[in-house]
Amino acid sequence: MKKLINPHIAELKPYNPGKPIQELERELGIAGAIKLASNENPLGPSPKALAAIKEALGEIHRYPDGNGLYLKQALATKLGVKPENIILGNGSDELIEIICRTFLNPGEHVVSADCTFVEYELVAKSFGAKMVTAPLKDFTYDLEAMLARMDDKTKLVFIANPNNPTGTIVDRVAFDRFMKDLPPQVLVVMDEAYYEYMLREDFPDSLGYMQQGRNIIVLRTFSKIYGLAALRIGYGIAKAETIDYMNRVWLPFNVNSLAQTAAQAALGDAEHLLRSQETARLGRQYLYSQFEELDINYVPSAANFILLDTKCDGQKIYQAMLKDGVIVRPMQVYGLPDYIRITIGTEGENRRLIESLKQAMGNGVVRS
Ligand SMILES: Cc1ncc(COP(=O)(O)O)c(C=O)c1O
Repeated sequence: MKKLINPHIAELKPYNPGKPIQELERELGIAGAIKLASNENPLGPSPKALAAIKEALGEIHRYPDGNGLYLKQALATKLGVKPENIILGNGSDELIEIICRTFLNPGEHVVSADCTFVEYELVAKSFGAKMVTAPLKDFTYDLEAMLARMDDKTKLVFIANPNNPTGTIVDRVAFDRFMKDLPPQVLVVMDEAYYEYMLREDFPDSLGYMQQGRNIIVLRTFSKIYGLAALRIGYGIAKAETIDYMNRVWLPFNVNSLAQTAAQAALGDAEHLLRSQETARLGRQYLYSQFEELDINYVPSAANFILLDTKCDGQKIYQAMLKDGVIVRPMQVYGLPDYIRITIGTEGENRRLIESLKQAMGNGVVRS
């Protein structure tokens, strides 16, 4: 088997999707566990999306609309772009893969941060590309350091904004400077999976660069604030020429019909969006105040999750909290063994998180 495998695939470590709630409950023989590990919307999906799916269920014997026409039209209207500027993906994960498949040649370089969404590295390496990373500065993408690592082999750059797992953003000033200095052959992927949580004036105008005809692809998803993670649907926005190339490797019917229907209904549910933003805002405030009281260092976040410094082995904290039925995310795969990342939950979930964290950090094992 070893002789059969591509050497650049053999060295990859599979993505660890985290522990599902049902699995934890079965293992521990408990009920009512909570999952604050994957940055999902704790309010669940939009009721309008649920109603639309129920109505569409009788049609699942048909292939989905391969072009995603209605959803692309709805997105185009909302974003002020044309449907030909949009590509739909089976989650934005699939779009990361399509981008690498369309544009990367083996041996080319992909630039990103050394502590960011792990899929960039996994996918880039799976196409035989070399990952070149720059350290974060104050937990934030250091775009200057990334520019300094570019050369004529550089093809793609991935920026998660806000960044996962730190929740920090690259602001407009930093991004504008970066775009000015970027070598012209480099394609920028701006991954805005948490865009709707980030209610800040100084957020970069990534779509503006797309409108100017720059080489940029903006990725967004229905998995986070729209609460449709299980249906797997995300979208990319870029100039029509870029989308046209990506469409050449896109697999037909990649986005199922229930996902398309739900996404379209969710886009029309402004009330659910506002409620979700407010839940994250209030939850963040509550959690920050608790962390300060407990003397726990955290990284201020523009998203629906927060990175915490446990000042000890984050894996042990994670294990201790699991026993309370609270699932969080340990961070050693991101090179942060002392940290955990928690998703902001409902009011009740946040209280339970704090109780469990207090127990885990206070009760001996772990504080060093
Ligand atoms: C930064 C970032 N990009 C992309 C994704 C993937 O989202 P999707 O569910 O749309 O594939 C995630 C999910 O955690 C993420 O954090």
